[in-house]
Amino acid sequence: METAAHDVVVVGAGCAGMRAAIEAVDAGADVGVVSKLHPTRSHSGAAEGGINAALGNAADDSPETHAFDTVKGSDYLGDQDAIEILANEAPGDIYQLEHWGCVFSRDEEGRLAQRPFGAAGSPRTVFSADITGHVLIHVLYEQLMKRQASGPLTVYEELFGWQLVEEDGRCVGVIAWDLVKGGLRLVTGSSIVLATGGMGRIYRATTNAYACNGDGMAMALRAGLPLKDMEFMQFHPTTLYPSGVLITEGCRGEGGFLLNATGERFMAHYAPNAMELASRDVVSRSETTEIEAGRGVSGSVLLDLRHLGPERILTRLPGSRELAMTFAGVDPIFDPIPVRPGAHYHMGGVATGNWGETELPGLYAAGEVACVSVHGANRLGGNSLMETITFGRRAGRAAAKAALARAGPPSVSDAPLADAERELGALLGRKDGERPWKIRDELGSSMLENFGVFRYPERMERQLELIQGLRERYEHVVVEDKGEVFNTDLTQAIELGYMLDLAWVMVQAGLAREESRGAHSRPSDFPERDDERFLKHSVSRWRDGGPELSSEEVRMTKWQPEVRSY
Ligand code: FUM
Repeated sequence: METAAHDVVVVGAGCAGMRAAIEAVDAGADVGVVSKLHPTRSHSGAAEGGINAALGNAADDSPETHAFDTVKGSDYLGDQDAIEILANEAPGDIYQLEHWGCVFSRDEEGRLAQRPFGAAGSPRTVFSADITGHVLIHVLYEQLMKRQASGPLTVYEELFGWQLVEEDGRCVGVIAWDLVKGGLRLVTGSSIVLATGGMGRIYRATTNAYACNGDGMAMALRAGLPLKDMEFMQFHPTTLYPSGVLITEGCRGEGGFLLNATGERFMAHYAPNAMELASRDVVSRSETTEIEAGRGVSGSVLLDLRHLGPERILTRLPGSRELAMTFAGVDPIFDPIPVRPGAHYHMGGVATGNWGETELPGLYAAGEVACVSVHGANRLGGNSLMETITFGRRAGRAAAKAALARAGPPSVSDAPLADAERELGALLGRKDGERPWKIRDELGSSMLENFGVFRYPERMERQLELIQGLRERYEHVVVEDKGEVFNTDLTQAIELGYMLDLAWVMVQAGLAREESRGAHSRPSDFPERDDERFLKHSVSRWRDGGPELSSEEVRMTKWQPEVRSY
């Protein structure tokens, strides 16, 4: 097996991973980046509408208001110290990105333009038309390449991180499958940063790329680490029907309307003040209610941009127009776009402190894989890109500092490698059985049906049973492709194992949370928020072959829970 050693190993090369790697190199560490994809193909590149920082360019704003909006948006489940860090450090991080070359859209005076986004008290979202993630990821990649040319940095593209390696109670590396050449590789480091993104693909209808299968969360879970708030999956209100492609919240930020089948702006019934710019959990529930009441149009509602006029659509929302034309055959200059809620972002993840540190010495996490927790029960649009940058930077800095304080690379015994080889051999050696795709399809459809925008006790119970059945079938899954090069059959089988673990954790945590908070809505049995019993984080660990649930206090600084309305 090929091996490599670094001070810091970053697993994942989206915005959080690249930002962490840049910071770690700048702090003087030798860094290895292990990425399943070419970095510019990471899912962060699909982010569209923007990134939040209280610059105050479009209206009065302050980090304090940004923090309050985020706390309220989180339905008071976000950790307020982490939220204050995000809001306070965001402006500096944006200016740095701009100095690195991010081409953000400008206002008429030449300042960075800021658009309204859902549940934000001020237009706070900095953007590059509607391709903000694409712009960020390319600038971060340029910065990474600049450092690779002159410094101790190695990017291992298309290396699929599979298992964390522990030695003497520390995380010391990652075992990865080489997608290009085949075979396992060991990359060791004094600090490891997980930045593998989310797991939207656990649902059939999602905005997420095929790569987003919860790899990092599952690796951490299997290594005994706690995952936090796993019941909270965000459904984005405007995903294109039927493909699930994201149509940015920026469309509503620019003034787009949501209409039902009768042409009514139905948000007036659900959020009379904020209307289409209520928080995502509220808008997704409103749309689902309209569709279930028979006021939808073929399983969707309509996003109407026509009144914005061609010039605004072409300058501010060109990507959304392109997507609507390509994937739904609709030109939004002339016709409304069919949209519906789709799984978009996971608020939970690997529990971390404010520097990305996890419970396992040597292991850090940042971005969607982590739960620091700034999003609580419902994330505000534009806050996740900001989180990748601010907390990616922090995790990179802390990981480098800890690594440089240690005397040289860790030593790793042969045992984890031998175990991994054996496990892989057993999977590839199986001759008969079921292929992974059918189990994966059934998981995605049933999660949407039974653990979606609204959650009912009998459906959640049913989902737990279904997951057990799928897990039993997974024991006999067969990888038909025995080849070494780009064996997607193999990677899909491994990813399916991750998703089945995480689905179990999610539904178990959902059943235990007997209240409605943010994205977790139980209209039939617990329709209200219950701060008395549930103003606390869910904490899930893998113990004796299954998830075990406990809880943890929410960290509050200055905001007490209030009734949340928009
Ligand atoms: O709608 C959007 O552009 C998505 C932004 C986000 O999820 O932060």
